[in-house]
Amino acid sequence: MMEMAMRPRRLRYGNSLRKMVRETRMDKSSLIYPAFVMEGENRQEEITSMEGQYRYTVDRLMYKMEELLDAGVDKVMLFGIPGHKDECGSDAFDENGIVQKGFRAIKERFPEMYCIGDVCMCEYTSHGHCGILNGKDVDNDKTIEYLAKIALSQVEAGADMVAPSDMMDGRVRAIRQLLDANGHETVPIMSYAVKYASAFYGPFREAAGSAPSFGDRKSYQMDYHNRREGIKEALLDVEEGADIIMVKPAMAFGDVIHELKQTLQVPIAAYNVSGEYCMVKAAARSGFVDETAIMCEIAASTFRAGADIYLTYFAQELAKCMDEGRIG
Ligand code: PBG
Repeated sequence: MMEMAMRPRRLRYGNSLRKMVRETRMDKSSLIYPAFVMEGENRQEEITSMEGQYRYTVDRLMYKMEELLDAGVDKVMLFGIPGHKDECGSDAFDENGIVQKGFRAIKERFPEMYCIGDVCMCEYTSHGHCGILNGKDVDNDKTIEYLAKIALSQVEAGADMVAPSDMMDGRVRAIRQLLDANGHETVPIMSYAVKYASAFYGPFREAAGSAPSFGDRKSYQMDYHNRREGIKEALLDVEEGADIIMVKPAMAFGDVIHELKQTLQVPIAAYNVSGEYCMVKAAARSGFVDETAIMCEIAASTFRAGADIYLTYFAQELAKCMDEGRIG
């Protein structure tokens, strides 16, 4: 036998010991499930690009909420698929808009479900851009007035938190001011502060019918070569009043999550987006990887990087794995 003071393997014998020395702890309270709600009655359609994910009419969404709560997931982020789209995305701030109806129904039946509104215009505009157009460009300052109205109408319909995902400059301040002016000073803002222009959103755009009809989103979403710019965006949003900072996508941006965790004093959220979900599903279908195992490993990697909050289409499955002690 060799003399060795340190044998790292000593701490790897048995699940109980491995769990005791685990560095990353995860909990169901960190999970947020993104859900799609559409007009109509008694229908749910599978999203072709996102196997196992559906668009629900408001009545059917209630069954999903029940399932989530039973699994221990008590936070949901709603995306609306409106009945009609126009130049200024008016369904997004209509008190009878699809997402507003969704929030009212959830809060009525399941007041314990924490509801978060995605604040953006791309699902609601006829051109698919995240704001009001001026020629071919999104007019930043005009758009932030609309975003504030959207946020307010979501809160008035029952949203507990709002999450602007548009990437316009100054929108957190505009939203904070309008919410405060209307007596909603205790409603937190989770800002998608560090949102990259990413091909990982492909399946979502199919799901929500929100692909831009011309051009791309590179004049507002960030260039994925940049990390310091992400820190700049996050610092600005905190200054404007963001309570939580989100990084999106998650898996390919662990370095950004890590650095923000060191730099900021606010909770960090990471969004495991549609393309990441879809890649896991496709890889599992090939038969070469174990879906549950890689789902857990990917989630743990994001928490290990520094995320406190995890938005994921796998929320329910992850909650089950946590219950079973596979991860956590
Ligand atoms: C914008 C928004 C998008 C996503 C969340 N909010 C799409 C985009 O920026 O194109 C993507 C989510 C995902 O891919 O899962 N409203």
